Amino acid sequence: MKALILSGGKGTRLRPLTYTGAKQLIPVANKPILWYGIEAIVSAGITEIGIIISPETGKEIQLKTGNGDRFGAKITYILQSEPLGLAHAVKTAADFLGDAPFIMYLGDNLIEDSLDSFLVDFKKEDLDALILLKSVRNPTAFGVAKVNERGQVLELIEKPKDPPSNLALVGIYFFSPEIHQAIATIKPSARGELEITDAIQALIDQQKPVAARQLTHWWLDTGKKDDLLEANRIILDTRLESEISTEIDPNSQIIGRVQIGKNSKIINSTIRGPVIIGQDCHIENCFIGPYSSIADGVRAIDVDLEHSVILQNAKVENIHQRIVDSVIGQRAVLKVAPRRPKALRFTIGDDSQIELVRSIE
Ligand code: DAU
Repeated sequence: MKALILSGGKGTRLRPLTYTGAKQLIPVANKPILWYGIEAIVSAGITEIGIIISPETGKEIQLKTGNGDRFGAKITYILQSEPLGLAHAVKTAADFLGDAPFIMYLGDNLIEDSLDSFLVDFKKEDLDALILLKSVRNPTAFGVAKVNERGQVLELIEKPKDPPSNLALVGIYFFSPEIHQAIATIKPSARGELEITDAIQALIDQQKPVAARQLTHWWLDTGKKDDLLEANRIILDTRLESEISTEIDPNSQIIGRVQIGKNSKIINSTIRGPVIIGQDCHIENCFIGPYSSIADGVRAIDVDLEHSVILQNAKVENIHQRIVDSVIGQRAVLKVAPRRPKALRFTIGDDSQIELVRSIE
């Protein structure tokens, strides 16, 4: 059994963060989203992993993630020259996959369930495809499944205007090598992509064994800002362990589950977990509230913040309103003059969003 992780594509929905980097490397609780997938695959006992990368962000993914040693896996990078669809990515990986069965894992998906029991069912039932489903409020944004009372998959439709159910296809699939011939029979969809959904439909049409399981725990497709904040909240809530690897000054208070990395300075501040703070940060006169992740090298002075993600080397200073539900990009600077400011001065990247709100809902 092998695994294929899809980490190419363009990531337009997380702009501006994805102008400068791969969306699969955006951290959730200070760890790239992609790494959660790698860890889940390795813990299911699969160590031969191919990662699909794009020409734009592939180098960055390769440099950050490495050859797999840190995960106990062997990673092979496979370049997909254009994002022509999930099934096109499988075609691109044909040499790597050979005739092995494989898990296909979309690099921006996160699930709480372990893969083990699905893998056991996939093998035991000798399936050509096992798909995972989860009911969602906005099925038009996903691939959607129509299933009968016994849970058998009748039909799959990609991003339907008129969804036959609210059961979305989760971005994790188990395939036998039969999928390759099914992919060979499909044509690009209206959005110009070779859809894996259509290839699985081709298997169903050929009466090949395809089964579905519904996820019992959470699933996050971290495509947008609110999904990213939600993923961050859930991971901090369920997986964060307390670990303080630095000195805390006596005027600071650490409450609840908090992780702080090496060489970070916490001065005259209150940190109320669950919170993760990386290495080499400078946090002074701050309140850092629940569900916040602060990456390495961040400087925060005179700031009150909660339920937010701050990426590497950002600087946030002298903001006396509470910062909530925010994502602040790498090296961004957010600063207010010490006395009441008379003017606002901005240098804001394309597609950025700044909201000065009256109250916290
Ligand atoms: O997240 C679940 C959904 O993922 C499913 O419900 C849909 O059926 C499935 O088509 C897919 O839809 P998305 O529109 O969300 O896929 P997206 O274009 O965001 O790509 C998913 C991942 O695959 C992302 O990490 C980028 C990568 N990718 C995408 C394409 C189109 C590639 O590596 N190569 C590609 O050609």
